Amino acid sequence: MINNLKQKKVEHNLLAKSLHWVFVFMFGYGVLKQIQGKEQLNDTGLLKSEILFALIFLSFIAFRFIYMKKNFKTSLPSETSTIHRLAAKFIHISMYITLSGIAISGLGVGFLFWLGYQNSYLIEFTIWSHELFFSTAIWLISLHVLAAIYHRIRHDFVWSSMVPFLKEDN
Ligand code: HEM
Ligand code: HEM
Repeated sequence: MINNLKQKKVEHNLLAKSLHWVFVFMFGYGVLKQIQGKEQLNDTGLLKSEILFALIFLSFIAFRFIYMKKNFKTSLPSETSTIHRLAAKFIHISMYITLSGIAISGLGVGFLFWLGYQNSYLIEFTIWSHELFFSTAIWLISLHVLAAIYHRIRHDFVWSSMVPFLKEDN
């Protein structure tokens, strides 16, 4: 079994791995420096830096999505069932959607604030959707990491195709 899998192992190229891991750090940075309350946006410097960060974050996701759409070939073993492949694809696409949603709703909050709608229902709704996108993204990322650990235990080289540590030797 392991010998069979050995012949089929796929490793993502350096650019694909870099896009994956740079994004993990970018997301971590975005979460660590999160705003604690909308009143903080009265600080124009902070408002501008949040908007700039969200624009960079969104451009990065768009570039990564286009690149991966053209070049991504999953490292799931060829005998993987269709339902399993679809589940992996569904989680990947949902992560792109929810992560973009965090940035787009964040930009919405920023622009509404800038236009003077600080105390409107619209801004409250946009903040609510921003937080909903965030919690959904966290659930999806947790499932994704659990799936990666499951593959590491199965020793089928899916983990090593993307993760630079605890790699399967052979
Ligand atoms: C891609 C960039 C961004 C990331 C990763 C991010 C991340 C977060 C996170 C993790 C939270 C807490 C959510 C929760 O507790 O469920 C949050 C809340 C919030 N964010 Fe963002 N955010 C981003 C962009 C923005 C932008 C551009 C603005 C506005 C200029 C903004 C304004 C807010 C506000 C007002 C809250 C709610 C704070 C509160 O009242 O609890 N965010 N954001
Ligand atoms: C912010 C956190 C993360 C996000 C948003 C994320 C997102 C993604 C996405 C969208 C893919 C599909 C390929 C692509 O489009 O780049 C992928 C592949 C992969 N990720 Fe992550 N990932 C995250 C963290 C992690 C972590 C922490 C691990 C492992 C410890 C991991 C392991 C993998 C593996 C093994 C693949 C390859 C799957 C395959 O070849 O089918 N990811 N990730």
